[in-house]
Amino acid sequence: MDEWVADIEFERQGPLRRVLKGVLINPLANYLPAGLMRAMLGFGKSELAAANWIEPGGWRSMVISYHGRPRQIADRLLVGMGTMSMALRNRKKLGSRLLARLIEQSHREPAHVLCLGAGPGQITVDAMTQADCESHATLVDLNAEPFDFGRELAAKHGLSDKVRFIQADLREDIQHLLDQPPDLVKMIGICEYLDDELIVQIARVAAEVMPPAAPIVFNSLSKAHGNDRFFRRVFGLHMIYRTPEQLQELMRRAGFEQFHAIREPLGVYHVIVARRAAELPPATRGS
Ligand SMILES: C[S@@+](CC[C@H](N)C(=O)[O-])C[C@H]1O[C@@H](n2cnc3c(N)ncnc32)[C@H](O)[C@@H]1O
Repeated sequence: MDEWVADIEFERQGPLRRVLKGVLINPLANYLPAGLMRAMLGFGKSELAAANWIEPGGWRSMVISYHGRPRQIADRLLVGMGTMSMALRNRKKLGSRLLARLIEQSHREPAHVLCLGAGPGQITVDAMTQADCESHATLVDLNAEPFDFGRELAAKHGLSDKVRFIQADLREDIQHLLDQPPDLVKMIGICEYLDDELIVQIARVAAEVMPPAAPIVFNSLSKAHGNDRFFRRVFGLHMIYRTPEQLQELMRRAGFEQFHAIREPLGVYHVIVARRAAELPPATRGS
C-alpha cells in the first residue's frame, strides 16, 4: 500500500519554518488573548475563522483549507501556511489515492463507496476521478447543507449520476438507506469529532453492512500541528486526539482487523486502511 502513495507530492515544511513556528508563531497564536485574536480575524474578514464560528471544524472550513487559495490576507497565512491546513490537504491527497486504488481492487465494477460523515464528498469525488474503473458512491451526512456544493463538485467531474447524497444520522441503522452493500467505506474527517463509544457504534453499523474483508479508510489525529490551544480558544474547535493504535483498538472492537497506517509528512494525520473481519465481535453498543 505504501507504494500506492509513494509519488504523491505532499506539502512539507523546511527546518526554518518549523523553528519559526515553534518559537514564535505558535506561541503567539496560542497565548495572545482569544478576544484580540477573534477581533483581528474578524477585522481581516477571515473566511476560515467565520466558517469555524458557524460550525467548528465543519465542512465549510474543510473546503476552504482544501481549496488552498483564499482571498483574504489572514486566510493566506492560516490556510496557505498553517500546519493544520497543509496537513488537511495532505490527508485529502493520501485518502483519495488510497480510496482510488481500493476502488480498482474491488471485485465488483462499478464499486460502491459508502462515505460516512461525507460533507460535500470532496475526497470521495477525487478518488472516483482518479480510479481507472467505474464506481458510484453513497454519501451520508447528518447535515444536508453541504449537499448542493457536493452535487456541483460531482457535476464538474462528470459524476452527477454516480453520487447519491443522503441526510441521516450514522448512529441509526443505515442498511435500509443503501441500494446495495458497500465495497469500501470511508470515514475520513469524522473520528476526531466523536467520542470513543460513538466511533465504535458508527463503525459497527458500517461493519454490519460490509462484506467480509471489505476495506474501511479512516484517520487518526495528533497534536503535531502545534495549535490546539488556538483552535479551542479562538475557533471553538475541540478535536479529540488519538494515536493510530488507539483508534485501531476502537475499530477492532467494531469488527475490523489488518490495519495499515500511513503518516502524512507533517505528522498531524495518519490515514489508516483496515478490513472488515470475517466474523463480527458481539455488539458493544451502550457498553
Ligand atoms: C469535518 S466534516 C468532514 C467532511 C468530510 N468527511 C471531509 O473529510 O472533508 C465532518 C462531517 O461529519 C458529519 N457528522 C458528524 N456526526 C455525524 C453523524 N452522527 N451522522 C452523520 N454525519 C455526521 C458532520 O455533519 C460533518 O459534515
